[in-house]
Amino acid sequence: MNVVLGVTGGIAAYKAVEITSRLKKAGFAVRVIMTRAAQEFVTPRPFAELSGERVVTSMWDDCTERHVEHIALADWADLLLVAPATANFIAKAAVGMADDMLTTVLLATKAPVMIAPAMNTDMLNNVATQKNIALLKERGVMIIEPAAGVLACGAVGAGRLPEPPTIVGEVKSFFDRRDNGVRSELINDCNGKLAGKKIIVTAGGTIAPIDPVRFIANRSGGKMGVATARAAAGAGANVVLVTGNITVALPTEPNIRLVSALTTDDMLKAVLAEFANADAVIMTAAVADYRVKDYSPQKIKKKANSFTLELVKNPDILRELGQQKQPGQILVGFAAETENLAEYAKRKLDEKNLDFIVANDVSRKDAGFDTDTNAAVIFYADGRAPEDFPLDSKDKLAGRIIRRLAEFF
Ligand code: CTP
Repeated sequence: MNVVLGVTGGIAAYKAVEITSRLKKAGFAVRVIMTRAAQEFVTPRPFAELSGERVVTSMWDDCTERHVEHIALADWADLLLVAPATANFIAKAAVGMADDMLTTVLLATKAPVMIAPAMNTDMLNNVATQKNIALLKERGVMIIEPAAGVLACGAVGAGRLPEPPTIVGEVKSFFDRRDNGVRSELINDCNGKLAGKKIIVTAGGTIAPIDPVRFIANRSGGKMGVATARAAAGAGANVVLVTGNITVALPTEPNIRLVSALTTDDMLKAVLAEFANADAVIMTAAVADYRVKDYSPQKIKKKANSFTLELVKNPDILRELGQQKQPGQILVGFAAETENLAEYAKRKLDEKNLDFIVANDVSRKDAGFDTDTNAAVIFYADGRAPEDFPLDSKDKLAGRIIRRLAEFF
């Protein structure tokens, strides 16, 4: 889950450093935006160190993102958390001003917003601030109530930023509530048809080892596969998630069993071992089609000026499953294409004996590998017309695939 943390210029800005650290430890990806005033209290460095990401400090930094940066951050966020939120920030948010990076991202994001006001008691109690907070609440912004105590200015009263564990607790419970909502919606939509079904999902890319320190890999990071496994688990299935080389965090749902299989051969064995009593297999993995013919058990030393690796064909896992498939077992493939999408995807559907195939154009910047979004076309074996799923988050696309799978039971 991705959290954009906005830090505004109050004395409590130093607490945002601990918030960043705790969010990371809890497994969130964090990007920090600091206002100019926040940088008067803390430097960007600890945020960069703890988040592992460049801190955004201005609208006019050199942009390293693929898209316009404020839009990229706004899209990336699953939650925008502003802690501490000053009276000034709250006022700008209430009227929709966008005069710095944080307020611009706030206007551009579709993600839910959570803010933790922190300021002097009189500023907090001022009618203007109270009206602004009420207006934000009305618009669905979640407010973390300020704590009471001795404030930096010496006054005693409400206005303190709650301690970082409290704030991170609010973030976690927001995601728990959201995930539970998605789960019950999925179970409803699937009419409980996937409850208790055994579904194998593969994720990530398989690798072809060259020697003990080198391997050939592909660009799959496992996002789509993990999202699919979570959606299937959310719909009540017992999921076996077979992972190749992945860069995303592993899911922790109790009804997802994890199996690691780094090479194509390992993945074939892992999937076949689970297949006999499985109700469905969703092959999201980008399976390496070739392996290195002569794996070197010792590290290859650099000597010659040129070097040739001979590759030999790997088994096709899905084709193998298509041959073994029993009535009632459903097979779902993915097709990663850069051209002739419909033709190639339909050929795979047919040749691998699948029930449906999710085809995506991996040459698009906003779909396929390394992105949080994906667009796809589903081709069905039963003659139904292909179905277009326009660009959306991988979580949403995964939910749609699982809803379609449920129709087969
Ligand atoms: N697949 C598989 N075993 C392989 C290769 C692919 O099980 N050795 C599966 C993938 O997980 C995916 C589907 O087959 O669900 C299609 O994969 P894709 O890489 O698009 O196609 P290939 O069959 O490998 O064909 P090509 O690389 O020529 O496009």
